[in-house]
Amino acid sequence: MNIKIAPSILSADFSVMGETIKKLEQSGADLIHCDVMDGTFVEPITFGGQMVKNIRPLTSLPLDAHLMIEHPKTQIKFFADAGADIITVHYKACKKISDTYLEETLKMIKSYGVKCGAVVNPDVPVENIFPVFPLCDMVLLMSVYPGYGGQKFIPEVMDKIRKAREYAQFIGRPDMDIEIDGGVTLENAAAIRAAGANVLVAGSAVFNAPDMAGAIATLKK
Ligand code: DX5
Ligand code: ZN
Repeated sequence: MNIKIAPSILSADFSVMGETIKKLEQSGADLIHCDVMDGTFVEPITFGGQMVKNIRPLTSLPLDAHLMIEHPKTQIKFFADAGADIITVHYKACKKISDTYLEETLKMIKSYGVKCGAVVNPDVPVENIFPVFPLCDMVLLMSVYPGYGGQKFIPEVMDKIRKAREYAQFIGRPDMDIEIDGGVTLENAAAIRAAGANVLVAGSAVFNAPDMAGAIATLKK
């Protein structure tokens, strides 16, 4: 399984984002995780498609846009045009609109030629997104409640990782990307990988480390 580390720029200093992106690339990051928050689906507001547009020319790494927003359909075009490589949307934000909204949004993302993924919060059973697994390039399991970096990993999510990997195998997609987001540390990364996750988001673990490259290497191996 190809392990990928996706540092979250939520933990970065936004005033020097350009340099940070270059440093992440030199330090061995595999994706750049962009946490988009709207102040409604989650309390804070971070940034929108403009950030993705501005960092796009600075790196060849895939840009992973994690949309923690209500009405995600309204933003897909902006993020696709900005150059996102993958866009993930929350099950909860979609479900409250209609039973078909998640599927429709994933199809909309793909219609722009962008990879797509569904996200579940820690309290949502992974089974709820099994019906859309075949549509997804990646599934994202939140291991904290979204909104803030620096929270503690919720251990119950380990079991959901195993279930997601088993189901990916069951549908003939053993290499499907399963991403974990929240509270990933140098200490728990090995267990998270062993459970079956292969894309690890890391905010504080990368940005608070004295040696960014060393931290990314440890998260990977
Ligand atoms: C939380 C975000 C995460 C966060 C991870 O809502 O989706 O991507 O930045 O930060 P750490 O790794 O510090 O938990
Ligand atoms: Zn995230």
